[in-house]
Amino acid sequence: MATSNAADPSHYRSVLSHFATGVTIVTGMDHATPVGFTCQSFSALSLDPPLIWIAPSRSSTSWPKIAAGGSFTVNVLAADQEDLCRQFSTSGVDKFAGVDFTLGVTGTPRIAGALATVDCTISQVTTAGDHFMVVGDVAALDARSGMPLLYFRGGFGQFAL
Ligand SMILES: Cc1cc2nc3c(=O)[nH]c(=O)nc-3n(C[C@H](O)[C@H](O)[C@H](O)COP(=O)(O)O)c2cc1C
Repeated sequence: MATSNAADPSHYRSVLSHFATGVTIVTGMDHATPVGFTCQSFSALSLDPPLIWIAPSRSSTSWPKIAAGGSFTVNVLAADQEDLCRQFSTSGVDKFAGVDFTLGVTGTPRIAGALATVDCTISQVTTAGDHFMVVGDVAALDARSGMPLLYFRGGFGQFAL
């Protein structure tokens, strides 16, 4: 490690990239059009009441459209969904081209093949630097058996048992 300067963006990115996570696609509806973006910043938050949080960038073009609808679904990606992850991390393309989905109880897309889906209504939105901290009230959630897509130090990987 070259420096411990927290103000150095590349050092911040490099150090924080050591925290391995799963990857999600956060989806919503812009009127009748499905929208979404790849989102690593997601975690459980509260059991009683059931809450989760996500952190959309303030530069996200999808988030304002999702927020206007008042609800979203967090789709936890499976190990074989890396292509989908890349598709939803590219701004301005038709992200849902070729993507199968159903609508959850919140009216937002549950992507076919996701390892888990968490349907939420938006409970709180706080500005935190260049991101928003969004708390979601969990309305419904489901999971299937299978392996997750993992993200670590800027690369994708799989869980080995
Ligand atoms: C692995 C990975 C994780 C990401 N995590 C986040 C995240 O937590 N929050 C976020 O706003 N963008 C995240 N992004 C970037 C967005 O997916 C990307 O900026 C996307 O193009 C935004 O699309 P939009 O303009 O349609 O919202 C991530 C991208 C990748 C590849």
